[in-house]
Amino acid sequence: MVSVTKVAVIGLGTMGAGIVEVFAKGEFAVYAVDGTTELAERGRGFVTKSLDRAVSKGKLTEADRHATLDRITFTAELTDLVDADLVIEAVPERMEIKHSIFTALDDIVRPDAILASNTSSLSLTEIAAGTRHPERVVGMHFFNPAPVLKLVEVIRTVLVDESVADTVRELALQLGKKPVVVGDRAGFVANALLIPYLSRAIALYETGKVSRVDLDNAGRVGIGLPMGPLTLCDLVGLDVVHEVCKVMYDATKRPSDASPSLLRQLVLAGRLGRKTGQGFYDYSADAGVDEDAGTDAMTTSAAVVGEGELATQLVDAFAGAGVTVTAVDGPAAGTADLAGTPLVVVVGGGADGGFDTEGDEVDDWLATVTSTVDARTVVLTADEVSEFVLAGVLGEDIAILPLRLHQETKGGQVAEVGVILGTTPDQVAMVRATLAAAGFVPIAGPARPGVVVDALLFQHLNDAVAMVDAGYATPQDVDTAMTAGCGYPRGLFAILDELGADVVADGVVEQSVLDPSVVPSPLLLEHAARDLPFLS
Ligand code: CAA
Repeated sequence: MVSVTKVAVIGLGTMGAGIVEVFAKGEFAVYAVDGTTELAERGRGFVTKSLDRAVSKGKLTEADRHATLDRITFTAELTDLVDADLVIEAVPERMEIKHSIFTALDDIVRPDAILASNTSSLSLTEIAAGTRHPERVVGMHFFNPAPVLKLVEVIRTVLVDESVADTVRELALQLGKKPVVVGDRAGFVANALLIPYLSRAIALYETGKVSRVDLDNAGRVGIGLPMGPLTLCDLVGLDVVHEVCKVMYDATKRPSDASPSLLRQLVLAGRLGRKTGQGFYDYSADAGVDEDAGTDAMTTSAAVVGEGELATQLVDAFAGAGVTVTAVDGPAAGTADLAGTPLVVVVGGGADGGFDTEGDEVDDWLATVTSTVDARTVVLTADEVSEFVLAGVLGEDIAILPLRLHQETKGGQVAEVGVILGTTPDQVAMVRATLAAAGFVPIAGPARPGVVVDALLFQHLNDAVAMVDAGYATPQDVDTAMTAGCGYPRGLFAILDELGADVVADGVVEQSVLDPSVVPSPLLLEHAARDLPFLS
């Protein structure tokens, strides 16, 4: 087994420069290679900037910064790599470029040197098969930003010498990374789960029914991920997301894996995200930020009908925002005069003073509440009442919108409103502004199963179960990949077990009724039926 002390990284874009930094900080001698002297110098600029940032944050000493840079040789000559023990290719995702580099390396490096690719989307087997020694070709897939994220996917092909994959795995551990060893399948583990989640968010944005800020808040605040999906697309690069979509779709033919039309358009337009200054967002210095409606649109009076913890939370939150709140308990709803109240929130609560939310009774008491308000009133229905409304029970003249309060995460607590046909933009603005003033992060999306947060989350979870069902990865591998590779605070299976397979399965089944491209994983349904967690 070759002992790795000299490493070369070819291609000094965002990923290549990050990988160079990781190895140089790990005290390896590194050749940092790009096609021209100018590109190699640009790469030096990326690495230096990142190290300078670490120094300014007090994470690296000035002396270590110098020592790290001294370990790196920036060059435009592949022929310099004669004594490299490991070469990692991180050039653009085009098979012909990869082939030409690996073919050239065959004539330059020692026969026992390891050749690795950081490809996110191309077939490692195809790259390996085009070389003279396919047994030494392996995937070593880092995640952006490489200096921060711990995951390294080590991709084995059917041609690889097991000792080569073992060496790369050991090396990843030595660098302080978390390796997951997987076979050569489109998207490997992390991208195969992350990219469909991102592309669903893009597709939803493209419908015009959800704003980009709401989509990002759904991921960051609602699910609790480090970034929202559109911001993450801009970080990863829209071209990369598009390429992975294409490869995934080629492999699966699942409609949900196809690259959304808007993504294709942005890539064709050269808006690739942060690296080009524009993607879903504009990163130029003079770009404005998305403003919410502000507090101007908020209501000054509201009513909360029903009792229990949620009712109390809402009453307190509205009052804290300066809204005059009328609290009405369940049995009094019929006699309360709510005419002229612009916003009424109806909460369930069953036996303890709210309403019984079974069957026809919901219909009856929603009718009672709506009979006491006038046509301009927006009625929000929370908890199980909102589920009932989402399932299709709607008042005729009154806007009855489902409201979902999600679990609080690091970013805050999402209050999500399902918008039904006929709701006016002013009504939506009033609801958003009032919820925001009350301390929630408002999200407005179509009043369909899952609205935005669960529509994204449940399908993401369903995909993870399908991957496990296909025998490609274990639930533990998936959770390592998503926490270490995408910064998720908890793995997908940890989230799934907490929510309960039955809740997620029901949600996915509901979504599948409206969208035939959503296919509930049989393994998810089995876990739901037997009430079995995935992680023991
Ligand atoms: N280089 C080095 N360090 C960086 C960095 C970079 N490019 N970007 C951020 N950091 C460091 C910061 O210095 C900071 O360090 P300290 O906490 O020690 O000060 C830390 O990371 C956190 O950064 P910030 O406080 O600026 O911002 P944040 O808390 O929002 O974290 C983030 C930024 C690390 C990018 C985080 O938001 C995150 O993990 N996002 C998810 C990213 C993700 O999913 N990546 C995978 C994409 S898929 C992929 O890459 C594979 C593929 O093939 C497409």
